[in-house]
Amino acid sequence: MKTIFSGIQPSGSLTLGNYLGALKHFVDLQADHNCYFCIVDEHAITVPQDRLKLRNNIRSLAALYLAVGIDPNQSTLFIQSEVPAHTQLGWIMQTISYIGELERMTQFKDKSSGKETVSSALLTYPPLMTADILLYNTDVVPVGEDQKQHLELTKTLAQRFNNKYNDIFTIPEISVPKVGARIMSLQEPTRKMSKSDENQKASIFILDEPKQIEKKIKSAVTDSEGIVRFDKENKPGISNLLTIHASCTGESIESLENKYEHVGYGVFKQETADVLIDLLAPIQKRHNELIQSPELDDILDHGADKAAVKANKTLAKAKKAMGLGRVKKKK
Ligand code: AMP
Ligand code: TRP
Repeated sequence: MKTIFSGIQPSGSLTLGNYLGALKHFVDLQADHNCYFCIVDEHAITVPQDRLKLRNNIRSLAALYLAVGIDPNQSTLFIQSEVPAHTQLGWIMQTISYIGELERMTQFKDKSSGKETVSSALLTYPPLMTADILLYNTDVVPVGEDQKQHLELTKTLAQRFNNKYNDIFTIPEISVPKVGARIMSLQEPTRKMSKSDENQKASIFILDEPKQIEKKIKSAVTDSEGIVRFDKENKPGISNLLTIHASCTGESIESLENKYEHVGYGVFKQETADVLIDLLAPIQKRHNELIQSPELDDILDHGADKAAVKANKTLAKAKKAMGLGRVKKKK
């Protein structure tokens, strides 16, 4: 059985982009894969976080993983900072990454541009992500398209370590969904929908109320042609709504184009909002039940214990290959 690893940052409320680009696929994969799903809180602190908000976001993200259908009996769900091997191997991975290749990462450039001070951890974020993945001998990493560059670097670093020291790490593959890999902002449909967008109207959040969802979809930026047609270049707004609608219902873009060919944007938008509301309502209900439950803590405790066993084994191999520490005598 192949091993899957993926992570989401608890850095704000999750968006529809996180759901359609990542979470939804995790659920499909868990039946026939050995899955690790992580709340990557150590990645979130590469930019300033408010401590109480971070706490809440961690818990809410854990509840969301379960609410969308991650089954703790099939998959291992845990919080990154509760498994110390992540930062330990992260440090090791920093020693084999070059500043130049880290500076070329688009996410680093985006998150650091215009800032007066930038933490050094924002630069060394990808070696930590590499460690997350390599600790579990991961075969496949399901993520949205924005993570492709980080995954390429992960492969490079794994290969570099294996060549330099010993053949320890599995070289992972990236898996990007066919539809929904890049959900765009509703207000600027040439940029990706992001948790951290300051314009609240730009993103649908998984926990948005039905009224908010309807309002945001209705005010989504479109064009003046008036024809529901997929054309990313010339009609990015409508194309994004088509992608959203198609990923939520499983219908193809072509069949949606035919269905809405003779109606205006108003009807198309209303029905897209309805589809979203129906999809998100049961997830929200389950999230709200789980968030305060002791069951959630039990699942996370168990997940961290299980993850640590696997992670510590890989970490020990990497340390040994590099000559760190001592060779322990067998008792
Ligand atoms: P992040 O919010 O950066 O922690 O991302 C968590 C997961 O959601 C990653 O797999 C991302 O690739 C995915 N993701 C984030 N934003 C989008 C988006 N707008 N469209 C598709 N996938 C996304
Ligand atoms: N960098 C990812 C993001 O911003 C989050 C992440 C951290 C991740 N570690 C990971 C994703 C390991 C996949 C695998 O979305």
